[in-house]
Amino acid sequence: MGGGGGGAGGGSGNALHPEKVKIVATCLVVAVGVYLLGLYLKSGAEWRSNLSLSLNMKKKKKKPIRVYMDGCFDMMHYGHCNALRQASALGDQLVVGVVSDDEIIANKGPPVTPVHERMIMVNAVKWVDEVISDAPYAITEDFMKKLFYEYNIDYIIHGDDPCVLPDGTDAYALAKKADRYKQIKRTEGVSSTDIVGRMLLCTRERSISDSHNHSSLQRQFSHGHSQKFEDGGSGSGTRVSHFLPTSRRIVQFSNDKGPGQDARIVYIDGAFDLFHAGHVEVCYAFPVFSHVRAF
Ligand code: CTP
Repeated sequence: MGGGGGGAGGGSGNALHPEKVKIVATCLVVAVGVYLLGLYLKSGAEWRSNLSLSLNMKKKKKKPIRVYMDGCFDMMHYGHCNALRQASALGDQLVVGVVSDDEIIANKGPPVTPVHERMIMVNAVKWVDEVISDAPYAITEDFMKKLFYEYNIDYIIHGDDPCVLPDGTDAYALAKKADRYKQIKRTEGVSSTDIVGRMLLCTRERSISDSHNHSSLQRQFSHGHSQKFEDGGSGSGTRVSHFLPTSRRIVQFSNDKGPGQDARIVYIDGAFDLFHAGHVEVCYAFPVFSHVRAF
C-alpha cells in the first residue's frame, strides 16, 4: 500500500507541472532561437564575405580604360613627352598613333624625321603601351570605328591647341561628336616649329635674304604654334628656348622607383641635342637598359 501510495504520490510528484512545462518550452524556444540566430549570422557573414569577394573580383576584372593619342611627333621633344604623360594619366593603357609621312605632307608640310624613326622615339617613352604606325592625320569615321572596335579604345586625346585640316575643319570633330574626346594641356614654349627655327639660326653667317628664306622654310614645318608666326612677325625666331622646367614637372617625369640594391648602374654622357632615334638605340645597346625606357 505504502509502495502503491508512494508510487501514486511519486506519480503525481513527477507529473509535469504547467509552470515547469512553460519554463522547459521557453528554454527550448530560446535554444532554438539562439541556434537559428547563429546560423543566420554565420550565413550572413559568409554571404557578405562572398559578396565582397565577388565585388573585389569584379573590381580586379574591370576592363582597363584604353586611351588613344595621335600625332606627328616630329623631332620629338619635351612637349610631346609631356603630352604622352598627361594622356596616359587619363586611362590605364595608352595607345599612340604615329601619323604617316604622306599624311603629314598632305596636311602640314614635310616632316624632318621619317615615320620609322618617329616610331622608335614614341615607343621609347615610358608612358606609351602600344604604338600604331601610319595613323591618319584626321580621325575619320572608319578609323574611329577601328579604334573603338579593334583596338578597344575608350577615349581619343589631343592637346588643347586647335588641330585644323587644310579645309578648315576640326580633325577631331567626329570623336567630339561621339563624346569620346578628351583634352590635355599643350606645353608652352616648345614646338617642332620653334626647334626648326633655332636650327636654321645655327648657321654661322647669314644674310638678310637668308633670314627671309629661313622664315619661309620654318613656316613649312607644322602649322606654326610659334607665337611669332601667330603675331604675324618675321618668324626669324630666337636661339633662346622659351621652355621653363619647374621642379614639379621634373618630379612628374622622374621614375618613381630607384635602382635596386644590386643594380649595375651605367653612366653615359653626351649633348643629346635634338634627341633622336640613334640616342634611343644607344640606351638599348646596354643589356642592363633593355627594360628601361629612354625618357
Ligand atoms: N603637344 C603638346 N605640347 C607641345 C607640342 C605638342 O601637348 N608643345 C601635343 C599635341 O597637342 C598633340 C601631340 O602633342 O596632342 C602630338 O603633336 P604633333 O602632332 O606632333 O604636332 P604639333 O601639335 O604640331 O606639335 P609641334 O608643333 O611641336 O610639331
